[in-house]
Amino acid sequence: MAIKIQHNVSLLPYNTFGIDVKAAFFTSVRTEGEMREALRSGISPVLVIGGGSNILFTRDVAGLVIKNDISDFRIVRQFKNRAWVDAGAGVPWHDLVIRTVEANLGGLENMSLIPGTVGAAPVQNIGAYGVELKDVFVSLKAMETATGRTRTFNLKACAFGYRDSIFKRELNGKYIILSVRVSLTTHRHNLNLSYGDIGKTLASMGVDKPGIRDISQAVCHIRRSKLPDPAEIGNCGSFFKNPETDIAVLNEIRKTHPDVPSYPLSDGRVKVPAGWLIEQCGWKGKKVGNTGSYARQALVLVNYGGATGEEVKNLSDQIILSVQNTFGITLEREVNII
Ligand code: EPU
Repeated sequence: MAIKIQHNVSLLPYNTFGIDVKAAFFTSVRTEGEMREALRSGISPVLVIGGGSNILFTRDVAGLVIKNDISDFRIVRQFKNRAWVDAGAGVPWHDLVIRTVEANLGGLENMSLIPGTVGAAPVQNIGAYGVELKDVFVSLKAMETATGRTRTFNLKACAFGYRDSIFKRELNGKYIILSVRVSLTTHRHNLNLSYGDIGKTLASMGVDKPGIRDISQAVCHIRRSKLPDPAEIGNCGSFFKNPETDIAVLNEIRKTHPDVPSYPLSDGRVKVPAGWLIEQCGWKGKKVGNTGSYARQALVLVNYGGATGEEVKNLSDQIILSVQNTFGITLEREVNII
């Protein structure tokens, strides 16, 4: 089937921040063949979007925006206590989580309700409640933007880090992810209950012997209580990464804030929650024009309606500066600014 390329299309329905900019050209593709066809249109530059949940548009987009709607889902192999599942890049991430949990396949339950699509997940190695994509990842199939050729990347080739991968760095813009393969448990699931409020939430749900479905429900409950629903208030989840810093910097902060939360890293450094730093600087719940830092989670910047990307970016610049001046720590944005 030939793809249809439209001209001058509003991207408002395609980004969870709810920013109203236009794409000079726009198309959506449902197969690998259609993706290749879109690339061969010769319109450049090309920007591929999934759920639009990690993008802040600050101006109209020149060139071709391709909405990746490749939506296959397949259990490809089962062995011992594992199954491999392949999912198309256009599958909404949470749909994949629900389908696997319903099939009693374990491994994704802690990552319930993360917005975005399967294809976007490896780019920033999504994670939540003690589990990251890399923990279940087998491989992915991607198309080289310049040639339309496909290539398989295994775990090592993706160079995953905290909210990071090779697709954010050396290969930024060079490959389009078509599908992702994960390895899930079929029984004797490795339950991960250690993070934050999961144990407490399960107890309040009256669950004493949790299974993967209970964990998924607990995570959904926690997320809904802290994070704004993009359908109601535009946002992209965490706007910044949690910064990693030297223990000396943390000790300095402890002098004035003895209760600063921190997580030790394997290299002796520590991670300090950006939400805490932002809250201490007085930004939590503060409204600036049509944007602001969310009242229940300072790390999330929101669009109260009609905000421009420029407005949100300016707010993030002010927050970075203020955290830097107060704590000597430089926050890094997690969201891609276009
Ligand atoms: N905190 C504050 N004030 C705030 C927010 C948080 O003091 O306004 C403190 C909390 O009290 C807690 C700590 O910061 O001690 C951590 O907070 P939380 O558990 O809410 O998680 P987070 O570190 O802020 C990260 C991820 C989230 C993920 C949660 C749960 C990043 C950048 N964010 O947030 O991911 O859902 O952990 O695992 O790593 C996302 O990436 O979009 C995202 C939502």
